[in-house]
Amino acid sequence: MQVRCITTTPYEGQKPGTSGLRKRVKVFQQENYTQNFIQATLDAMSSPSAKEATLVVGGDGRYFSTEAIQLIIRIAAGNRVGKLIIGKNGILSTPAASNLIRKRKADGGILLTASHNPGGPDNDFGIKFNVSNGGPAPESVTNLIYENTKKCNEYYICDMPEIDLSKTRVHTIDGFTIEIVNSVEDYVQLLKEIFDFEQITQFFKNNPNFTILFDGLHGVTGPYAERIFVEELGLSRSSIQNCTPLPDFGGSHPDPNLTYAHNLVERVERENINFGAASDGDGDRNMIYGKNAFVTPSDSVAVIAAHAEVIPYFQKTGIKGLARSMPTSAAIDLVAKKKGLEVFEVPTGWKFFGNLMDAGRLSICGEESFGTGSDHIREKDGIWAIIAWLNIIAAVNEKKPGSGIKEILLEHYQTYGRNFFSRYDYEEVESESANKMVAHLRHLINASKNDFIGKSFGQFTVKEADDFEYKDPIDGSITKNQGIRIIFTDGSRIVIRLSGTGSHGATIRLYVEKYSQNASEYGADTQEALKPIIDVALQISKLQEFTGRDKPTVIT
Ligand code: G6P
Ligand code: ZN
Repeated sequence: MQVRCITTTPYEGQKPGTSGLRKRVKVFQQENYTQNFIQATLDAMSSPSAKEATLVVGGDGRYFSTEAIQLIIRIAAGNRVGKLIIGKNGILSTPAASNLIRKRKADGGILLTASHNPGGPDNDFGIKFNVSNGGPAPESVTNLIYENTKKCNEYYICDMPEIDLSKTRVHTIDGFTIEIVNSVEDYVQLLKEIFDFEQITQFFKNNPNFTILFDGLHGVTGPYAERIFVEELGLSRSSIQNCTPLPDFGGSHPDPNLTYAHNLVERVERENINFGAASDGDGDRNMIYGKNAFVTPSDSVAVIAAHAEVIPYFQKTGIKGLARSMPTSAAIDLVAKKKGLEVFEVPTGWKFFGNLMDAGRLSICGEESFGTGSDHIREKDGIWAIIAWLNIIAAVNEKKPGSGIKEILLEHYQTYGRNFFSRYDYEEVESESANKMVAHLRHLINASKNDFIGKSFGQFTVKEADDFEYKDPIDGSITKNQGIRIIFTDGSRIVIRLSGTGSHGATIRLYVEKYSQNASEYGADTQEALKPIIDVALQISKLQEFTGRDKPTVIT
């Protein structure tokens, strides 16, 4: 195969965010934009270099994926990559890709997804690089990719016929191997090793009235859900919906939260469905929703950690430690304390959990952004979290029949207290005003710190305030400016940060948390319980003054 060196011009702004490079499809379609980024990514592979490497390639099947995969094949050939392992039709959920990288001992993977962002010609596309542990590339690598994009003057490509992605087979061309694999098989095997599928199936048989609804939101998880829920666990086909992956996700927003998974929420409420769940475009996020019982992601990971002993995988490996991202509520910290386990607080971004897992210090972790997972792979895992809940429900019911989501949550609060938690998102705010608001907050906690600490806002008195900084306990790397934290004397907390995953403008995230050990409050409505502290957050941040927004775009 003839390698051609093509002259190109660097593009500005190809800096990977929290989770890879995410831009409008039209941006990726500009001349050489995608080619440059792929070349810059391959050039960032240090040890071993891209030459002769094995890479896993696949994604959520969104618009522009097939074009991007064909380009990756030809540019990989141009850079003398040894082997590509590609999901059939380019489909691999993010967790399935992470698993394949690990299982096949690949040197990394290129994931084509913009996660939960809408897809289609006028929406988003994304390219994300994962390293050999199966997890998102650490900042040292993404910074290198960015540096490479700034000086990308040429890329290498082979002229070759389009590869048929629709058939599982191995292509070998001039020593370059392309293996098209079943997208679902290895992942399903992994889950069957982790969970007690028999116990779950038995529970469904014993409780034929226990109803389930999984919503794939037309993302990548459809085929995985069909195989697992219908074929393996024996549920009826009516237990799953929106399970045909579509390049534009049917025109909707493939994000499993109360706003975007509203059809699931409505059906659960209307039809008295016992267990509702959804996953996002690329399959790494999840939402668990029971009738009158929305499980916040912060509670979800705490409940899974509290009951982990019933899951065969953790019976084998033991529970090494727990972790959460900084804005996530401290519910899991209380579980760690009770079980005598280490608990880590990392910046937002799944990549920060990887080092802890590789070092054998972390088993279960989660983020408020609907991410839950464990060290079985190095990505968060939507279907894993859903099956974890089902496994727990099945096990709990052996001792306490009739326990559903609500009963399990209530029992959790009775043991640990309740961490009320909510997040307000202000999407597509003008970047300048968002930055000004952050500057104002930094000023408060730095320059006027002495006045600010001890100051009272209604019932809340400021105890501590900082801009979160993380020192990785394994490699010592320091990550600064990860969000403003204001902690009050009663343990309540406000966090404000700018999202790192948006594709344009700025998204302000405001997180509030209040802890209660008063059993009469456990059944309270979250928004009502949090109203006083939300008002204080808006007052301190002057959010409305800076942005002109009088309400958030999304509340979770
Ligand atoms: C992605 C990342 C998560 C992160 C989330 C929100 O899903 O994988 O680790 O928590 O985005 O990030 P953001 O920077 O937008 O708050
Ligand atoms: Zn995702």
